[in-house]
Amino acid sequence: MSELDQLYREVILDHYRNPRGHGALEPHDAHAEGQNPLCGDEVSIFVRFADDGETIDEIGFEGRGCAISQAATSMLTELVKGRKAEEVAVLPKDELLEEIGIPLTPIRLKCAILGLGVLKVALHRAKGTPLPEEWRTLENELRLADD
Ligand code: FES
Repeated sequence: MSELDQLYREVILDHYRNPRGHGALEPHDAHAEGQNPLCGDEVSIFVRFADDGETIDEIGFEGRGCAISQAATSMLTELVKGRKAEEVAVLPKDELLEEIGIPLTPIRLKCAILGLGVLKVALHRAKGTPLPEEWRTLENELRLADD
């Protein structure tokens, strides 16, 4: 394994062990949860908007599952805080995958984007932001649902 891969792995483990933005937010303006039916792992995301009603001011998550799904959701909270809902609605998954930094198998890929899918659904439901086709498909595959 290259030194860089090793470094990425350490960052992932750190996010898994010390997740950023961990915990439910009460009250919240947007919420959704999703499950990877292949393994039963779950992620719940809560968002609070700033006074403009558009900017993500606080984001929290709860979940259980593999290191990649939980670490990726933790990284996601850092990636989207301070961004507008409409910007996050079209955030390419590659931006998150770049943060993760290591190559992932197709199954691991689903783990990695579970949180992002749940967040997009939460924003879609709260703000009517678009949910691109690929995420609509995932909505069924990943069982993304609110409450
Ligand atoms: Fe279930 Fe990763 S193994 S989300």
